[in-house]
Amino acid sequence: MKPTVALCYGTRPQVIKASALRRALAETLSVFAIDTGQHYDYELNQLLYRQLEVERPDRLLEVGSASHAVQTGAMLARAEQALQELAPDAVVVIGDTNSTLAGALAAAKLRIPVVHVEAGLRAADTLLAEEINRRAVDSVAQLLLTPCARATARLEQERAGSEVTIIETGDVMYDVLTSQGDTLPPVSEIVPADTADSFIFATLHRAELTGDSAALAGALTALDDMPVPVILPLHPRTAKAIERAFPGRTWEGSLKTCGAVGYRESLSLSRNAELVVTDSGGVQREAYWFGTPCVTLRRETEWIETVDVGANVVLDPSRAGSGLPQLAENRVEWRERGWDRTCYGDGRAAGRIAEAVTRWLTR
Ligand code: UD1
Repeated sequence: MKPTVALCYGTRPQVIKASALRRALAETLSVFAIDTGQHYDYELNQLLYRQLEVERPDRLLEVGSASHAVQTGAMLARAEQALQELAPDAVVVIGDTNSTLAGALAAAKLRIPVVHVEAGLRAADTLLAEEINRRAVDSVAQLLLTPCARATARLEQERAGSEVTIIETGDVMYDVLTSQGDTLPPVSEIVPADTADSFIFATLHRAELTGDSAALAGALTALDDMPVPVILPLHPRTAKAIERAFPGRTWEGSLKTCGAVGYRESLSLSRNAELVVTDSGGVQREAYWFGTPCVTLRRETEWIETVDVGANVVLDPSRAGSGLPQLAENRVEWRERGWDRTCYGDGRAAGRIAEAVTRWLTR
């Protein structure tokens, strides 16, 4: 009989990664999929299932939005119940969200082994919600699968002498990107035709920015002053923050906002933009793989390799007004310089992850 794993996820980037992981794991293992329902809006969840042809989950926990404690607590209780019913041999969690934490903790408390995909990333700000999640999950996981050499080396140092297994697999996000090949929708089908030739693609959603109306205003004003149109699809959290901080405000300059777009539209915008401005980890790497220069509007990035090779510049949002114009001015020359794109593997991470989990469970 094949060993059984539960694949637990619940946010937009995790549905994307789960699309490749679920297929790869199912080649050698029985897989139960648990979607926590952390993200539930159509554009953040069902649209991705459709675009990436992901099977419906075996369990949908429907936790929705709430404070961190209430959201994580609800997920923890419901994940525990699902895991008791499904009794898998291991639980696979991805990344650093509240869904990752809840899945890992529920499993660990039931003494079900935890596999962490995207292990070993670190931010200097140890109280960042995602950083708390990452460190907690890495500390209870027994099989740690990393996207890059730096994460592997860090875990080997942190966990020296302990009984965990650390394997570098590459980044499964790259598998999903390469699977889309040349089938992405043209930009002219996503944005008005007069914007499609020359534009900046922006995404902003992190709590550090949406919760700080002065920083958010500074970032939006800097984007509105850009020399070419800026396409900013809004994560529901950002849409709410803008409505709360600047009710009824319209942007007169370059900034064009719209609702959240699908994964394939987002990839197309990232590939065809002259510059990407973002606070998303996924969008930073997608720009890096497509060869599109990226400005990360944060104080730091966990994806430091993209900065090392010259693909990405980290800019504190409070300095967006002074820093963005010059970076945007150099965008064409920046893109032409190019960079090494092999830091996060070769687009075959899902197969390696499945092989590592299977071998580990049948050792
Ligand atoms: C979460 C992750 C973050 C990840 C991001 C990807 C945590 C701590 N953070 O942030 O690491 O980069 O997902 O998008 O897990 N909302 C909706 N509709 C939805 C989902 C959310 O309206 O479908 C609103 C809710 O009002 C909620 C807010 O967005 O309060 C934030 O959602 P939440 O689940 O807390 O996390 P994200 O900001 O999406």
